[in-house]
Amino acid sequence: MDSTELLNLMRERRSIRKYQERQISREDMEKVIEAGIWAPNAGGGQRSVIVGVHDEKLAEAIGKLNIAHFDRSSLAGSYVSHEQPSIIDDPTLRSGFYGAPSVCVVFAPANFLYSIPDAFCCAENMVLMAQSLGLASCIIARGEETFLSDEGQRLIAQWDIPQGYIARCFVLLGYLDGPAPSPKPRHEGRVRIAG
Ligand SMILES: Cc1cc2nc3c(=O)[nH]c(=O)nc-3n(C[C@H](O)[C@H](O)[C@H](O)COP(=O)(O)O)c2cc1C
Repeated sequence: MDSTELLNLMRERRSIRKYQERQISREDMEKVIEAGIWAPNAGGGQRSVIVGVHDEKLAEAIGKLNIAHFDRSSLAGSYVSHEQPSIIDDPTLRSGFYGAPSVCVVFAPANFLYSIPDAFCCAENMVLMAQSLGLASCIIARGEETFLSDEGQRLIAQWDIPQGYIARCFVLLGYLDGPAPSPKPRHEGRVRIAG
């Protein structure tokens, strides 16, 4: 892949919030996770742990735990983005995962300065790999709160997540249902090149 193709891949990736029921292949999920594992990581510590949930019923259940903790009062004006109204702004939404049949959970240490950037570097690698495989994806926050319930704690025990780790984010995976969202123009004035 040359630099133009790479930039096009980045430009064409969109956060998808409407998914077909069709499940992705296990092979594709493995490739997405492998991309996450190869992300840059603070101090070369390779601390993040990624769990792939290749099960639509479990993905839906975790999505419900995720939205249960969505505090709209912390948003400016109770919606996520002024410029890009989204179905996440629908207060009747019952899952934070929009019907995605698969989800990857990125865990990282609760008490490490670069834990959050580490996890989101994984997520970025993962959504780009998803794009290259023709999959739809979306990064989702609120990992920290999602597993607080007894149900969430049971999953963490079942997945053998190391002590002191916390979910930092999710990567939804599936196939786009409906037309692809169009890209938003980039804001002016965001770039400086010194020297
Ligand atoms: C740190 C971070 C947290 C995000 N959390 C959510 C989320 O909880 N729910 C959601 O629908 N999208 C979430 N997104 C996706 C953004 O809303 C999305 O990237 C942004 O609107 C730009 O759209 P695009 O990805 O299609 O270019 C998140 C993205 C990032 C980087």
